[in-house]
Amino acid sequence: DYIMSIFPEGFLWGGATAANQCEGAWQADGKGLSTVDVIPYGPDRMPVARGKLRMLAPDDVHSYPAHEAIDMYHRYKEDIALFAEMGFKCYRLSIAWTRILPHGDDDTPNEAGLAFYEQVIDECLRHGIQPLVTICHFDTPIDLIKKYGGWKDRRMIDAYLKFCTAIFTRFAGKVKYWLTFNEINMLLHMPFMGAGILFEEGENETEVKYRAAHYEIVASAKAVQLAHKLMPDCMVGCMLAAGQYYPFTCAPEDVYAAMEADRDNYFFIDAQARGSYPVWAWKRMERAGIRLDCTEEDLAEMRRGTVDFISFSYYSSRCTSADPATVEKYKKPGNAAIMSLKNPHLQASEWGWQIDPIGLRVTMNTLYDRYQKPLFIVENGLGAVDKVEPDGSIHDPYRVDYLRAHIREMGKAIAEDGLPVLGYTMWGPIDIVSASSGEMKKRYGFIYVDKDNDGNGTLERRRKDSFYWYKKVIATNGADL
Ligand code: BG6
Repeated sequence: DYIMSIFPEGFLWGGATAANQCEGAWQADGKGLSTVDVIPYGPDRMPVARGKLRMLAPDDVHSYPAHEAIDMYHRYKEDIALFAEMGFKCYRLSIAWTRILPHGDDDTPNEAGLAFYEQVIDECLRHGIQPLVTICHFDTPIDLIKKYGGWKDRRMIDAYLKFCTAIFTRFAGKVKYWLTFNEINMLLHMPFMGAGILFEEGENETEVKYRAAHYEIVASAKAVQLAHKLMPDCMVGCMLAAGQYYPFTCAPEDVYAAMEADRDNYFFIDAQARGSYPVWAWKRMERAGIRLDCTEEDLAEMRRGTVDFISFSYYSSRCTSADPATVEKYKKPGNAAIMSLKNPHLQASEWGWQIDPIGLRVTMNTLYDRYQKPLFIVENGLGAVDKVEPDGSIHDPYRVDYLRAHIREMGKAIAEDGLPVLGYTMWGPIDIVSASSGEMKKRYGFIYVDKDNDGNGTLERRRKDSFYWYKKVIATNGADL
């Protein structure tokens, strides 16, 4: 098969998680509160994540999955050993901001928080696993929301840089790959989860979101420069919730609508990768009456702080139409974070996420054509219901099918299209809390965790069939899929 040995030597196979979805220990060792600690399980989850409900208190009637998650805070050794058993070359984790700066902008970092991540990182390195660190993965410190209204305020940039300084200084020489903001474009869809934004009565919501986006983009550009200064060998990436929009039909109006929908996402990555906002973005903002708080100095920082590589998550392609009747007919029920119509050519997961391996190749090519920077797939996977057999085994061929098909297309993008790709960290190598639904039932892992949606279970870890499959994939550097 031509896929044989097409993955470059040193290709970074692995898995990815986020602090709040796996660590638990939400109040341990001086940790402060962040958004994710007050985003509940249940029907209020999305309204809260979208900034449409008043902020909840962590001790009210709701339950908060981040409080315990899968308790990786206390079990990271066992979990990293399992990653190592699969042969991971890379583990993407995020650092919880409020473990390091409990109030978000403390002058002195919390030593216990730094020590925790140092142990995690050292544990990875002992196993020959490269850590890839997401600086901010959906967690804005609550105290900064109280003080500034989250990323609505420019002063967040300095707070973020304090956090960066603390972790860059401590982990220089140990962590080579960094990402500034997880899925930065999700700020437009889940502004509370993405940026700690709660809307006030009568606020121009679009303007609020774009102003916050600008501050995050400037913060990212400054962080890139700081990282390069403190860690000359490091590489810093942006992170996009990717998935190209297809036009529902070949009607020119649909093609144009798809291009426009993609621009909501490219807005961020154009700024982070090219160092400036695209021309159409200024026109769009003008038409929407958005006044960005953007200074000449900001624009200079953006030019100086472009990222070294483009990382992204990919679960599905997207689809849109300019025709209201088509939109009405094909729109998905429920609470999808990003708008997409049902694509009649695709199957979907039990959560309605459509499955499109070729779309990964399409997305990769578009991103490379646009930016000409190395790509890194830092999330891809299938959330599914797993069943534990009486003998304790877990047969999950659907997960293998999904991943195999996507890895094949990634292989083609490397072998046939010639794209430079640094690595592939699938999402959720161990079952963790779902970001969108807060469930445990939506499982991505090669490793099963005994815990259900209501929080019952022993938290025991078990290898699924896919565990052995991925181990073989890595051992053969992608040749044996
Ligand atoms: C991405 C996020 O949106 O997708 C992750 O970066 C998230 O945090 C992942 O978990 C999968 O989504 P979900 O909602 O199925 O957990």
